[in-house]
Amino acid sequence: MRQEYDSLVAQDLDWRIKELRGPSLPRANVAGKENVIVLCSNNYLGLATHPKVKAAAARAVRTHGAGSGSVRPIAGTMDLHEELERTIAHFKHAEAALVYQSGFAANAGLIPQLAGDGDVIISDELNHGSIIDGVRLTRAERLVYKHNSMGELESRLREADAKPYRRILIISDGVFSMDGDIAQVDEIVKLADSYGAMVYIDDAHGEGVMGEGGRGIASHFKVEGKVHVEMGTFSKAFGVVGGYVAGSADLRRFALNKSRTWLLSGSHPPATTAACIAAVRVLETEPKWILRLWKNTEYFRKQLRKLGFDTGNSVTPIIPVMCGESSKAKAMSERLFGLGVWALPIVFPMVAKDKARIRTINNAKLTRKDINEALAAFETAGKAAGVL
Ligand SMILES: Cc1ncc(COP(=O)(O)O)c(C=O)c1O
Repeated sequence: MRQEYDSLVAQDLDWRIKELRGPSLPRANVAGKENVIVLCSNNYLGLATHPKVKAAAARAVRTHGAGSGSVRPIAGTMDLHEELERTIAHFKHAEAALVYQSGFAANAGLIPQLAGDGDVIISDELNHGSIIDGVRLTRAERLVYKHNSMGELESRLREADAKPYRRILIISDGVFSMDGDIAQVDEIVKLADSYGAMVYIDDAHGEGVMGEGGRGIASHFKVEGKVHVEMGTFSKAFGVVGGYVAGSADLRRFALNKSRTWLLSGSHPPATTAACIAAVRVLETEPKWILRLWKNTEYFRKQLRKLGFDTGNSVTPIIPVMCGESSKAKAMSERLFGLGVWALPIVFPMVAKDKARIRTINNAKLTRKDINEALAAFETAGKAAGVL
C-alpha cells in the first residue's frame, strides 16, 4: 500500500484534502482560513444550510431516532422513506421513484440489473465513474461513443441493431461534470425510439439547475416521460445526500427487487430522509434560488470571458477555466486559494494531459461583491500562472 501510495505522490496524483471547518457556505472556513469564497461545492442552491432543511433533520431525530435499524427490504423502510419517494416522483413528474443511499449506489446497483447476458450498453465516453463502475458489473456487451456525438451514437445503434441483442441500453450523463456541457437528450430519445433502445440519464448535476423549476435535463429538453430511467442525487443541488431513480411504477418494482446496493445495504437515517423531503419542497416553493444561481452563473461566465479566459463548452453553472498543462492549473489553484478563492484544478488522468483546468461551480448564495472579488483573484492568479 505504501509503495502504491508513494507512486501516486511521485506522479502528483494523490489527493490533498482541505477540510471545511463549519457548514458548507459560499464563504466558508476552509482549512482554518476564514471567509474563503467557495467555487467548488455542489451545494448549488445553498440548501445544505436552509433553515427548513435543517429543521426537518432535527425534527426527524426527535420523532424517528438516529438510525433506521436495517436494510430497506427487511425492517429499514420507514414512513419517511416512502414519503421521500412520493415527493421526488411528484417533483420529477414521474409515476414512481426509488431512493438509494447515494447516486453511486443507484448506478452501481441498477445498471448491472438492467443489462446482462445478451444485452448491450451504449455509453458516452465521458460518463461519470459511477456509471462506468455500474457498467463494469454487467455481463452485457459495451459500446462507447465519442463524447456527445450523435452521429457516433447512431453508428453504435446500427451496429447493435444488426445483432440479436435482447436489450439496447443507452446511458449518458445529462450535465457533464468536468466540462459543464450537456447531453443532447432530445436527440438521444429520438434515436433510441427509432432503434427500440432504452434510455438511462444520470441527472446528478441537472436537478435543481436545469429545466422548469429545476426539474432536470429531461424537463429542459421537454422529453419528460420519454427517458426510461432518470437517475439523480440528493448530494448536489438538494444539499443533503442520497440517490434515486424516477420513472414508471414498473421501474420502481424492478429496481427494488433487483438492485443489490438497495437490498443489501442499510437505509438512510431519518434525519437524512427528512432533510431530503424538505429540500425538494423548498425547491418547489422557492424558485428564486434557481434564478439567482443562473444570474450568478451568466455574470461570472461573461466576465471570465471578458478577462480573456477560455471557458470551454460550458452552458451550465459548472464553468471550467482552461489552463492547458497540469502544472499551470495547479499553480493557479494554489494562488487562488492564497487570494481567498477555493477552486480545484482538474488534471490528467481526470481529463486529457493538455486539457487541465480550474473547475468552478457557481452558487446561488454568492453576492455580486463575492463574484467580483473572485474575478479579481482569477485575473491575478491567471496572469501569475501564465494562463492569461
Ligand atoms: C454525474 C454524477 N453521477 C453520479 C454521482 C454520484 O452521486 P452521489 O454523490 O449521490 O453518490 C456524481 C457525484 O459525484 C456525479 O457527478
